[in-house]
Amino acid sequence: MLNTAETTTKRDFIFTNENFERVVRLINERAGISLSDRKSDMVYSRLARRLRKLNFIDFNAYLDFVENSREEEVNFINALTTNLTHFFRENHHFDYLRDVYIPELLSKDKKRIRFWSAGCSTGEEPYSLSMIWQSVVGNNKSVDFKILATDLDTNVLDVCEKGVYDNDKLKPVNKEFLCWFKQTDECGDNQLQALPLLKKRIHFKPLNLMHDWPMKGPFDLIICRNVFIYFDKETQSELVNRYSELLSENGCLILGHSENLSANKKLFNLIGKTIYRKKH
Ligand SMILES: C[S@@+](CC[C@H](N)C(=O)[O-])C[C@H]1O[C@@H](n2cnc3c(N)ncnc32)[C@H](O)[C@@H]1O
Repeated sequence: MLNTAETTTKRDFIFTNENFERVVRLINERAGISLSDRKSDMVYSRLARRLRKLNFIDFNAYLDFVENSREEEVNFINALTTNLTHFFRENHHFDYLRDVYIPELLSKDKKRIRFWSAGCSTGEEPYSLSMIWQSVVGNNKSVDFKILATDLDTNVLDVCEKGVYDNDKLKPVNKEFLCWFKQTDECGDNQLQALPLLKKRIHFKPLNLMHDWPMKGPFDLIICRNVFIYFDKETQSELVNRYSELLSENGCLILGHSENLSANKKLFNLIGKTIYRKKH
């Protein structure tokens, strides 16, 4: 029995258990996201905004529309994703990259180095990677280095492209890195924009992890943090297999603090807190 209230009190629209189950099915089919019964209120409040905006009076009609409109499917997915992120989140991951992994890659004299931030949200993660790279390597042109940053939520990718952040969001950024953000015409009050120096090496692209991936790799680093938590075990396991195929030999995979490799441990060695290296 679902734990969803079928009540209309304090709600503008009727939201039945069947409506909730249909949303759960749809978001799972389209984005691989598994919503637990506890998310009913969250789902209601996020989608009720879409109903109001589009002047729908009930969920059935709205969900029919989602199933028949590619454009609204995108808005539906955008509404249901959770994009919480911040600069230098789980800082020990960036310490590892700065102190161990990037120096190791450079010592191998690699000419081409690729990082992938999968599920990059509003960009704080790839910009943090870019800052770390800049602090270790600077503008050394002898290495062809790029960061691919992808998300299926198209709204967050707009934020990434602009690279404009509130000063409050920039608080975790080390003072010596803040010079890479400036006030520009695109900024509002109390905002700064990432300089081209940080942006130029990041390529932001829409990508649904459930679909085919156009990239061939290999990647030296895949950082996919706080994304697995939205997927069921089977989906997580398939993704780890696919990441392994795209990683270079001994490449690095970083997950979020509450995530793990579950069934695919044999593919990787755990070498730090949710930091893995691909086995030979
Ligand atoms: C909580 S954020 C994590 C952001 C960042 N990686 C971090 O750890 O701070 C999760 C992101 O995963 C994205 N996401 C969820 N399902 C996805 C899917 N099927 N394909 C690609 N991205 C997805 C969401 O849009 C959201 O931006």
